[in-house]
Amino acid sequence: MHKDVKKILISEEEIVKRCEELGRQITADYEAKQEAPLLVGLLKGSVPFLAELIKHIDMDIMFDFMDVSSYEGTQSVGNIRVIKDLDSSINGVSILLVEDIVDTGRTLAEVKRMLLNKGAKEVKIVSLLDKPQRRVVDISADYVGFAVPNEFVIGYGLDFDQKYRNLPYVGVLKDELYE
Ligand code: XMP
Ligand code: MG
Repeated sequence: MHKDVKKILISEEEIVKRCEELGRQITADYEAKQEAPLLVGLLKGSVPFLAELIKHIDMDIMFDFMDVSSYEGTQSVGNIRVIKDLDSSINGVSILLVEDIVDTGRTLAEVKRMLLNKGAKEVKIVSLLDKPQRRVVDISADYVGFAVPNEFVIGYGLDFDQKYRNLPYVGVLKDELYE
């Protein structure tokens, strides 16, 4: 275990197993609709999760990435800036947004609205983690890996000051590191 980690919440083994289950479920759902989703990962946190998840989706999918940032200090919804946009038009496309964690829900609500405005046929969400206690916007992921308690988590894409994204598990940082 990394020296800065207080405890491991979710092991690599559990994450891989859950990705297998999610991949199977996603495959079945989109097969039933007879369409393949375009997976859209939100940079940078979704990268490790997306990389594992796609191995377990048994259909011909494509993926792309977006990078958005919220305007700090604004409390209203409707304030995100696109830093990296999608490579191609999404008019009529079924999108499966891939996120590391749904926290307040603001980011996903905004991105979803933006993609629908651009003509996406449908926008579903898959998130590795969900922190339901922190939600302020009425949004939920269609597919969730794990619910986590109201603690700041790191690893498997999640960072503290851009660090720890490469840890192969989800953990909680030692308290003294926040000070
Ligand atoms: P909202 O609040 O819009 O934000 O749902 C989601 C984004 O906030 C970040 N976030 C975290 N990052 N550990 C992290 O490393 C956490 O516990 C945490 N909670 C929220 C994350 O970037 C996510 O995409
Ligand atoms: Mg993020």
